[in-house]
Amino acid sequence: MPNYTTDLSFNFNNPTKIVFGIGAINDIGPEVDGLNKKRAVIITDEGLAATGIIDRIKELLGKRCVGIFSEVKPDTGVYIIDRGVKYAKGLDADILISVGGGSSIDTAKAMAILLTEGGRLEDYQGWQILKRPLIPHIAVPTTAGTGSEVTYVAVVKEHDRGIKLVFGDNHLIPNTAILDPELTINLPPDITASTGMDALSHAIESMHSLQRQPMTDGLALQAIRMIFNYLSVCVENGKDIAARGQMQIAATMAGIAFSNAQLGIVHAMAHAVGARFGVPHGVANAILLPYGMEYNMDICGDEYAMIAEAAGIDIHKKTKREAAEMAVFAVKRLTEEIGLPTRLRDVNVTKDGFAACAENAMADPSIVYNPRTPSGTEDILKLLEKAW
Ligand SMILES: [Fe+2]
Repeated sequence: MPNYTTDLSFNFNNPTKIVFGIGAINDIGPEVDGLNKKRAVIITDEGLAATGIIDRIKELLGKRCVGIFSEVKPDTGVYIIDRGVKYAKGLDADILISVGGGSSIDTAKAMAILLTEGGRLEDYQGWQILKRPLIPHIAVPTTAGTGSEVTYVAVVKEHDRGIKLVFGDNHLIPNTAILDPELTINLPPDITASTGMDALSHAIESMHSLQRQPMTDGLALQAIRMIFNYLSVCVENGKDIAARGQMQIAATMAGIAFSNAQLGIVHAMAHAVGARFGVPHGVANAILLPYGMEYNMDICGDEYAMIAEAAGIDIHKKTKREAAEMAVFAVKRLTEEIGLPTRLRDVNVTKDGFAACAENAMADPSIVYNPRTPSGTEDILKLLEKAW
């Protein structure tokens, strides 16, 4: 256990009401009422809109639902936000309900900024810029990964420039998160795997971030335990609703952890590679996570030994270094076990984009919290090369 110094100080913010359980979605109407709102617009993607999930939510909401915006795409973009804002404004919406993966939840977060403040989305990019609460937002995640239902972060792609805009603001944290494992049982194995590795990356990056503290450690370590126990079960048998529930809770806990502790070099690189080459966020993280950990190894031996223990490894009689290396190995083994690619070359990443990726990773807000400060783009280039 690493020693915390006497100058430890932190803020811990977790305002989201979490409603968990099989059938928890049945509470959506009363949750809207509890926020004293009457005109809800559902934000979702085309795929989900075609399933029974949205029909059911619409029915549960009854008169409270005034519209469904179903134009969200993976890696949501500025143009999608603009369209959604126009749609919700036209309906005089007073609450947003996002249903889907991180892309739908982040779309609602970004829409909430413009519905409340107006203007151009780009102008709100950055950290803690918003001055007042936004239009309320209930998040209903249908994946177990991003943790966006409880985080203060939204990521929106600017397709023209091939970059991701990052917004970090406490006013972006959804008011309520409804976690119903039933909504995740039809998630295909590859998406289950990649979103689960995103959650693991959040938990592990929370553990090596410069802003980690005992409360985020607690959330992150329990999330790591649950992910190592249940992710492969969910990938193998998507209908295992108990395991699905555990993964949903783990992803949300990891979300609260990183929303307070911040992330690091893995997400900085994953954002860059994702934006440039269209690699799904969870897949990019899964590939880059072991290399990011190796990069931080000399500084984070204690933390990685704790991660190894949480991953179920017997570290008794091992040196800290050995235990830390076993944590990295456990991450690689889990990635293989759940059938995800392990090299950048497997996901159509080409070396000609490395220089731009390294520059974007160095400019990413997550890099600031990495425990080892890269000397420059050379360090990132070396890591990308290794991961290729
Ligand atoms: Fe992530």
